[in-house]
Amino acid sequence: MTGFMWVAIIVQADPDAAVTYQSCAVCHGEAGQGDIELGAPALAGQGAHYLERQLQYFKSGVRGSDPRDNRGLQMQSIADTLSDEDISIVANYLSALPRIAPAIVPEGNLKNGNNYYQSKCGACHGGQAQGNPSLNAPALSILNGTYLKQQFQGFQWGLRGTHPQDKYGRQMKMMSTSLPTDKDLDDVIAYIQSMAKPL
Ligand code: HEC
Ligand code: HEC
Repeated sequence: MTGFMWVAIIVQADPDAAVTYQSCAVCHGEAGQGDIELGAPALAGQGAHYLERQLQYFKSGVRGSDPRDNRGLQMQSIADTLSDEDISIVANYLSALPRIAPAIVPEGNLKNGNNYYQSKCGACHGGQAQGNPSLNAPALSILNGTYLKQQFQGFQWGLRGTHPQDKYGRQMKMMSTSLPTDKDLDDVIAYIQSMAKPL
């Protein structure tokens, strides 16, 4: 816990967003590109409202409270150290950073993935998986395949999207039954990754 105390002191001592972000970079990467090994998603170029909402969700326990959700719990204890102002500042800072395409080679049936993506996901997440702030749907093209799968299954298994106050997660939870098999999910993820490019 000492590490988190240290984070809190830095945040209070200097309101500058880049300085606040230094405490996050150890997991999310210097440029906000994420870290596959740690399960930490890319944040650079993600929608500001989405980022702000997720940080508030972690802080209030709407996301990450399921005892099976180890990574969510980890992020909760970090969000706890942030004030509402810190959250707003860091979300806007991250949203303005350039998007970084995850370095991966897509594997899967792209035709099947394309069909499912465009019929089941694109209406909310955008035709290029670029996200749609007006529908509160995050960009998926910046996220690595491991994180995408883990979150999608988190919705399927009820780790995410089941809290009574999780209005937007609930929408996504309903959509998580729209792919018949895990293979179809893998194909959709491969397709999303095939579109990944810096915008
Ligand atoms: C100890 C590692 C660690 C640190 C430090 C950390 N995070 Fe995270 N963060 C994670 C992990 C792991 C997840 C994925 C949680 C999950 O699986 O639901 C995450 C998820 C997030 C998300 C959700 C993104 C999405 O696409 O839904 C946001 C936003 C976020 N972190 C912001 C921050 C900010 C801002 C800081 C610094 C104040 C920070 N994180 C520090 C590990 C970390
Ligand atoms: C009705 C609109 C809608 C549709 C259709 C939809 N989603 Fe979502 N999705 C959302 C919203 C809203 C969120 C954000 C939930 C939140 O705020 O916690 C989300 C979040 C996600 C996340 C979590 C991203 C992150 O950064 O943690 C993944 C992964 C995802 N969706 C994948 C998909 C896939 C794959 C499909 C198609 C099978 C799909 N979604 C269809 C609305 C939708």
